Amino acid sequence: MSSILILNGPNLNLLGTRQPEVYGRTTLADIQRLCSDHAKSLGLDVVFEQSNHEGALIDHIHAAKDTHAGIVINAGAYTHTSVALMDAIASVDLPTVEVHLSNIHAREEFRHVSYISKVVVGQICGFGAQSYLLALDALNSRVNAT
Ligand code: DQA
Repeated sequence: MSSILILNGPNLNLLGTRQPEVYGRTTLADIQRLCSDHAKSLGLDVVFEQSNHEGALIDHIHAAKDTHAGIVINAGAYTHTSVALMDAIASVDLPTVEVHLSNIHAREEFRHVSYISKVVVGQICGFGAQSYLLALDALNSRVNAT
């Protein structure tokens, strides 16, 4: 069974209480459960990780090369700043889908830029927790097509 790494960046551990007017009341644990159930229905395994540290996220991406068939990443604010994360994704050459809970293009201008979008298959944003499920659907077709 193909395995997908779902990687979450800084401050996403605070979902549920963090700016609920922007991110809703769904917690990261809720999103993990939704992803696990959805992955099961698709016949995929998922491993769910979160870190507030850029280097730890990079280590997870490197380790994914030998263990996972693809990556779903919500890099949080590192999306808009991190050349290092972009390079890590490009280096492992795994199909990767970028997700965001909020519609980053409808928010402040600095959120319109995503370094990692340059190296991913595609970006899904604005659908709350459903962004993750749509990303799993997209990766599932990709992984099963290869
Ligand atoms: C986010 C959007 C980012 O701009 C922000 O820094 C986050 C969350 C989202 O899921 O909507 O931390 O990635």
